Amino acid sequence: MATLAFNHEEIAARELKPELLELHGISRAAVEAHYKLYQGYVAKRNEILGRLAEADLGAANQVYSEFRALKVDLSFAVGGVKNHEIYFEHLGGAGGDPDGAMGELVRRDFGGVEAWRADLKATGMAGRGWAWTAYDWDEGRLFNYVGDAQNTFPVWNATPLVALDVYEHAYFLDYQTDRGSYIDAFFDNLDWGVVNDWIARYQIQV
Ligand SMILES: [Fe+2]
Repeated sequence: MATLAFNHEEIAARELKPELLELHGISRAAVEAHYKLYQGYVAKRNEILGRLAEADLGAANQVYSEFRALKVDLSFAVGGVKNHEIYFEHLGGAGGDPDGAMGELVRRDFGGVEAWRADLKATGMAGRGWAWTAYDWDEGRLFNYVGDAQNTFPVWNATPLVALDVYEHAYFLDYQTDRGSYIDAFFDNLDWGVVNDWIARYQIQV
């Protein structure tokens, strides 16, 4: 018998902000293709929750079971939704150094903006899918965490404030294998006002 957790509301993909079609160094074609992938994650999240509502809980098995497959792939789909909603929301700005609360946090926890940027770029070069600057509530500080797939490796009780997508779909159209130049372009398009709004909404203390 399914639980109330699977009595879900379907979610819809968020609209793509018009600014996203005019980024510096990341083409409209790349963004439009990327947005389609995000829409796919939303659709699969909805589909999987619907299937979970009808799955046989009694047949759950760690080696193979429909229930296991749905739960594992739900984490991939939900990760894809959340990661891309951060990514698209905080692009479309003028880049540069973070100001306001984010600027203070970066200087406090990394010693300077260049150190933060260098560490996040290296984290992005080392990741197979994502790099995040997250505020870790247990440690009370920012840290750049590495990600591989959409569902690896988020850290509990840490809130991502910057989400750098380094899947090849994010840059191959514009940069082929030159991921580093794409990461530089990513920094050039960050909207620090959006990030500072999140810091205020989450009540992260500076
Ligand atoms: Fe992506």
